[in-house]
Amino acid sequence: MRILFIGDIVGSPGRDMLQQYLAKLKQKYQAHITIVNGENAASGKGITEKIYKQFLELGAQAITMGNHTWDKKEIFEFIDDAKNMVRPANFPEDTPGKGLMFVKSNKHEVAIINLQGRTFMPPNDDPFRKADQLIQEAKKRTNIIFVDFHAEATSEKQALGWYLDGRVSAVVGTHTHTQTADERILPKGTAYITEVGMTGPYDGILGTDRDAVIKKFLTNLPVRFEVDKTGRTQLNGLIVDIDNETGAAKNIERILINDDHPFFG
Ligand SMILES: [Fe+2]
Repeated sequence: MRILFIGDIVGSPGRDMLQQYLAKLKQKYQAHITIVNGENAASGKGITEKIYKQFLELGAQAITMGNHTWDKKEIFEFIDDAKNMVRPANFPEDTPGKGLMFVKSNKHEVAIINLQGRTFMPPNDDPFRKADQLIQEAKKRTNIIFVDFHAEATSEKQALGWYLDGRVSAVVGTHTHTQTADERILPKGTAYITEVGMTGPYDGILGTDRDAVIKKFLTNLPVRFEVDKTGRTQLNGLIVDIDNETGAAKNIERILINDDHPFFG
């Protein structure tokens, strides 16, 4: 099983990059399943139903979310019907939506789990123990389990990677938007990266208009943060190869497309 994962799609620059490259990436890597993090897809905060559907039409089978899940009010109108979307599973009990979903490719199923960190993030249930619970549930159907851990702290991301080593196929970090170069297969067979990186503005600061961010650092005055739409764009993602029977990862490869790392089809 080969899974293509695309990091946080940020606003219209991110959506444009997805439109431009998703089909090419699927073709180049012959991915069976594509997962996209969509929590920043609508103006940097949240997702709309139209964008959710657009991602599916472009060829994604699963959309993962994060701390901005509820930022667009209309999410409450469609999340319970959005069968291809997962929001962090460790949100409080009875929160709309779900944190575990299954996607089928040929005769093999992939379980996709979304979790959110607690360090420097809003308080939520324990992602570690929630992972234990969901892995048990997922294993009834498949050994192929993919975890998007939306978290701020590198230590918390590494801790979950090691905690789940040998029990899931991949733990990939999202949320901090800058791709890390620490991708590896942990000793018991879990593919790991601290941060996949984001898809959207290349000349902003984490996707935000940089003048506003610099002004904030210089003055501490209230500043309106908006997605940078004037500069160049980038795409960050990765490919994971997984053994269909055992669920162990065999390979993890980063994808980075920007003017400094051009795409070769
Ligand atoms: Fe986030």
